[in-house]
Amino acid sequence: MIHTGCTVWFTGLPSSGKSTLARLLCEHLTDRGLPAAVLDGDELRQWLTKDLPFTKEGRDENIRRITCVAELLTRVGAFALVAAISPYAEARARARQKLRRFVEVHVDCPVAICCRRDPKGLYARARQGEIAHFTGISDPYEPPMNPEIRVRTDRLAPRQCLDLILDKLVELQYIPDDHAHCTPRTRIAALRHDEPV
Ligand code: ADX
Repeated sequence: MIHTGCTVWFTGLPSSGKSTLARLLCEHLTDRGLPAAVLDGDELRQWLTKDLPFTKEGRDENIRRITCVAELLTRVGAFALVAAISPYAEARARARQKLRRFVEVHVDCPVAICCRRDPKGLYARARQGEIAHFTGISDPYEPPMNPEIRVRTDRLAPRQCLDLILDKLVELQYIPDDHAHCTPRTRIAALRHDEPV
């Protein structure tokens, strides 16, 4: 039997597409009757993690608190969809160890493209020195070495990224096969090589 519930952890630079993909996945799962919630770093910083700075310590504490909420959700069989920069590999490894049913998605996009997207104008402000320690500009981002999934959001459309994620969730038996795909299976293989289809 397939047990439902796991954490899908979207990590990547600001404006890489984490929130977009987490929301798409959430919609896909809830439309099919699977309980899911998005834990968005940006939103949680309005309340749960409002007090935390963007220092290494502050970011690590941010990840620790988000992990606690994800653990509660997955304990009752829900899908916790985390969208947070989570720039430090060690903090992500601690989350993985605590959560166990853990799927790390590297939302991969070159910083130059993220800068160009910049919907909130934060890269521009960071480059002008108005925001200190901004990830990708003046603060580090440690890309995952062995994520379960890596999606290049500069090459693939959000729906195509979603298909790759669903495919992996089926493979890991976190969702049943009949809960996947938007794109025919024959095209999934091409997507794995980042080829636009
Ligand atoms: S994390 O690094 O601790 O995981 P998190 O995902 O919660 O970050 O929050 C990132 C959001 O905070 C960004 O999308 C951006 O809107 C905002 N932000 C404000 N200051 C910074 C900064 N110095 N570096 C990165 N993001 C920042």
